[in-house]
Amino acid sequence: MRVLVIGRTGQVSTELLARLPAAGHEATGLEPPGFDLTDAAQVEAAFARYRPEAVINAAAYTAVDRAEDDRAPAFAVNATGPRLLGEAAARAGVPVIHYSTDYVFDGVKGSPYTEADAPAPVGAYGASKLAGELLLHLAQPRSVTFRTAWVCSAHGNNFVKTMLRSGRERPELRVVADQHGAPTFADDLADAAIALLPRLAAAPAGEDCFGVFHLTGQPYTTWHGFAEAIFAGAAARGQAAPKLTAITTADYPTRATRPANSRLDCSRAAERLGIQAADWRRGLDRCLDALLKETTP
Ligand SMILES: NC(=O)c1ccc[n+]([C@@H]2O[C@H](COP(=O)([O-])OP(=O)(O)OC[C@H]3O[C@@H](n4cnc5c(N)ncnc54)[C@H](OP(=O)(O)O)[C@@H]3O)[C@@H](O)[C@H]2O)c1
Repeated sequence: MRVLVIGRTGQVSTELLARLPAAGHEATGLEPPGFDLTDAAQVEAAFARYRPEAVINAAAYTAVDRAEDDRAPAFAVNATGPRLLGEAAARAGVPVIHYSTDYVFDGVKGSPYTEADAPAPVGAYGASKLAGELLLHLAQPRSVTFRTAWVCSAHGNNFVKTMLRSGRERPELRVVADQHGAPTFADDLADAAIALLPRLAAAPAGEDCFGVFHLTGQPYTTWHGFAEAIFAGAAARGQAAPKLTAITTADYPTRATRPANSRLDCSRAAERLGIQAADWRRGLDRCLDALLKETTP
């Protein structure tokens, strides 16, 4: 299939573009400065030029704290963008795979969130992503939105890379231990989307393969638990580990409020799509192999 990927050098888009050809697809990735998802004429021109048979939107405004003071660009990329893509995809008759976030929830629920739970974003990023989900599915019902969380990979900026860098610079790191969720590796997200493409291309609107699905890694942990796993893996690859100290969210104030509970129940994706939440510890091993091999002289 001809697959148009929105995003080219982001975490998820990089993995998609690396993996789509091996699965027999012809993939094109688009991002600024050559392409702006918020510009209707550019979206239309991309459909005319590449004639995609499926679209995967891995583009987003992901600067969670900056979005609080920079709402217009966040809403343009995260809400208007998916609407424009959905409208163009509906005109072309092609399905869309899109990504959203645990930040659509307020994080106060005492157990993992299901797709039946009412979203209640507490910040601008979450609100913009929720608007994008709704606008996309209104414009193109033949769409899948994967709500994911704590995305990491060997590319781009993420918690694994921040921990490794900070661990080389400082003897002790303080890491939040009262936010719960599950790391998700971008290569696992890419594999899930690629596996789903043929089914989506063949399915008419109304099939239960369309809609919103939760998809993270498993098992659940905390940022502190994740940091412990990162440094255990780094130590096994010869990098000295700093002392880790567990702190609370109150000890680490940020501009945007983070949900205390980011745990997403991924059983709907398993039941309807046959997509299992991947074990993030395997993803971490792959990521550390790639990152620590690069830095070894
Ligand atoms: N990262 C996380 O922890 C996390 C958590 C939950 C959900 N998600 C969701 O997962 C998806 C993928 O996230 P990610 O971590 O791969 O994001 P990322 O690494 O920040 O990459 C975002 C991509 O979007 C592109 N982009 C930004 N503005 C654009 C525009 N106007 N037009 C076209 N492309 C544009 C960027 O291109 P430039 O680099 O050129 O700007 C980049 O390729 C997003 O929907 C995100 O909301 C991420």
